[in-house]
Amino acid sequence: MNKIIDGKLVSSIIKENLKKEISSLDEKLTLVVIQVGNNEASNIYVNKKINLCNEIGINSIYKKYDDIDEEILIKEIEKFNNDSSINGILVQLPLPDSFNTKKVINSISYKKDVDGLTSINLGKLYNNEESIIPCTAKGIMKLLDYYNVLLEGKKVSIVGRSNLVGIPLFKLLLDRNCTVTMCHSKTKDLKSSLKESDIIISATGKKGLITRVMVKEGTVVIDVGISRIENKIYGDVCFDEVEERASLITKVPGGVGPMTVICLMENTLDCYKIQKNMKNL
Ligand code: GUN
Repeated sequence: MNKIIDGKLVSSIIKENLKKEISSLDEKLTLVVIQVGNNEASNIYVNKKINLCNEIGINSIYKKYDDIDEEILIKEIEKFNNDSSINGILVQLPLPDSFNTKKVINSISYKKDVDGLTSINLGKLYNNEESIIPCTAKGIMKLLDYYNVLLEGKKVSIVGRSNLVGIPLFKLLLDRNCTVTMCHSKTKDLKSSLKESDIIISATGKKGLITRVMVKEGTVVIDVGISRIENKIYGDVCFDEVEERASLITKVPGGVGPMTVICLMENTLDCYKIQKNMKNL
């Protein structure tokens, strides 16, 4: 039985549907992607986002600053907030250390917040209101659903507590009646938590953190981690040894990554609908 969860396949199905819907609109959607600095991983992610915009028929405006004063950056974002031809705004993370990331993200209008990272959207998510859902967390839920992974009553361990992935995912899985354990860098006995889990989702960026002995037979394993070592990409999971025990498992690359980018496109379309009062927020 093929146990590989194929994010490329699932994202390509969503892509075809999105393409059709986007081409049927009267207006062209526009997404602004803002990057500060020259983080190598960010360069790669941003390129993927812009390439997919092109493929799918969304205009992209790429603003890359070597450096910029925080207040000037916020003024730029406010200009985009007030420009009705702009449907989505994304600030690629991480920002350089000197920036107040929360302040910059919260300067994005919540109706154009394609990453779902503003306090308004995260607050709405945690308060059971309609919200824009962070792309990676949304993409993982779509993968689990596509592969018919039963969630209700299942024990899930998430490793990594970021606002981008772990924390929103915790809420989304709780809403599907999972029993969720949030593990992180200070967790005392990671193995004993993981060993009890029906589903393990790891998003730490620590190469090879999840080993065979931590995984029971039949577990669904989702690897969100990406580390780049000597130009090779690794996930958090020791794939070869964990695959034997897993009932379903993602690869890195080709697992969660394509889902993050396609969900960004979906969120851009959702933002457009919200701005046109075709959808509530
Ligand atoms: N950096 C890594 N992943 C992401 C993401 O999904 N959105 C943004 N804005 N930055 C990121």
